[in-house]
Amino acid sequence: MNIQQTIKQLATPGKGILAADESTPTITKRFSALNINSTEETRRDYRKLLFTTPGLNECIAGIILYEETLNQKTEDGIAFPELLKKNGILTGIKVDKGLVTLPYTRDENITQGLDGLAERLADYKAKGACFAKWRAVYAISANTPSSLAIAANAEVLARYAAICQSQDIVPIVEPEVLIDGDHTIETCAEVSESVLQEVFEALHQNKVSLEHIILKPSMVISGKTCPIKASIEQVATETIRILKRTVPAAVPTINFLSGGQSSQDATAHLNTMHTLFPHLPWNVSYSYARALQDNCMKLWLGESKNNTLAQKALYTRAKLNSMAAQGKYTVEMEKEAIVA
Ligand code: 13P
Repeated sequence: MNIQQTIKQLATPGKGILAADESTPTITKRFSALNINSTEETRRDYRKLLFTTPGLNECIAGIILYEETLNQKTEDGIAFPELLKKNGILTGIKVDKGLVTLPYTRDENITQGLDGLAERLADYKAKGACFAKWRAVYAISANTPSSLAIAANAEVLARYAAICQSQDIVPIVEPEVLIDGDHTIETCAEVSESVLQEVFEALHQNKVSLEHIILKPSMVISGKTCPIKASIEQVATETIRILKRTVPAAVPTINFLSGGQSSQDATAHLNTMHTLFPHLPWNVSYSYARALQDNCMKLWLGESKNNTLAQKALYTRAKLNSMAAQGKYTVEMEKEAIVA
């Protein structure tokens, strides 16, 4: 697959991306909250359950894996990328190496992992990956994000994207403005605009082909502990307003992260963007982890006897988001999501 074929498939209208690339510490945290043991085997069983969900490819064009999963096989010896291919789903890979403190800031972060990236990508590609993900984070507080953190993360995101494209891999560019804090939606809009503007400036400087990237932004939303919770319509309107100001129409697809929103909110926000703005210049879809997996993981609980129920929950959630990505979701459809 070349990057043109990959982006075309990933930007299929009505389809989204499943982020199943939680690092081992992150998935362990999610498992622990449900008293599920986290071992190489339970992580493999869980990911296999996700990947073999009947009908998933109707709503999911690609799945992002963590390196451990890329190298795992089913009990009968089928490598996961091979399994996904059989099911009509493309394999992606998280390639950043997590966050470190950025010196001379107030404990802000920069994402690491550029050293040796081209070599790692060649290896991932040989194992079946055709797209990649790199996440930068920005925390909102009275003094953050600083202009230094915004500039440094933009540069690193752009260099990562250029390296991916030079290896024929489609980069997911993920600048996440965190939902944590009591900031208003107005503050989130201001910060998101500065972050995105700097990211696109850096992409341009690094000669990244905008036609072959996926932008994975956070929505413009009020902070989790903000006393005034922004409405669904406000989130949709502010998000699209900021994206229109910053993201060139050459970008084929925008796939949001869910960032700690409830599953239902993440679906409703996406749907409302489409109903309020039916003529967007980009494909607008999803690349959720928690908002797709939460119900599924809660029903699974580490027990194979729950596999069918858990898969049904994932399929239903994916289907609702697929409807939302076409502006066809209604709250009444949530009844279907209640798996008895
Ligand atoms: P959430 O949808 O849970 O925010 O995860 C998306 C993701 O890939 C974070 O990097």
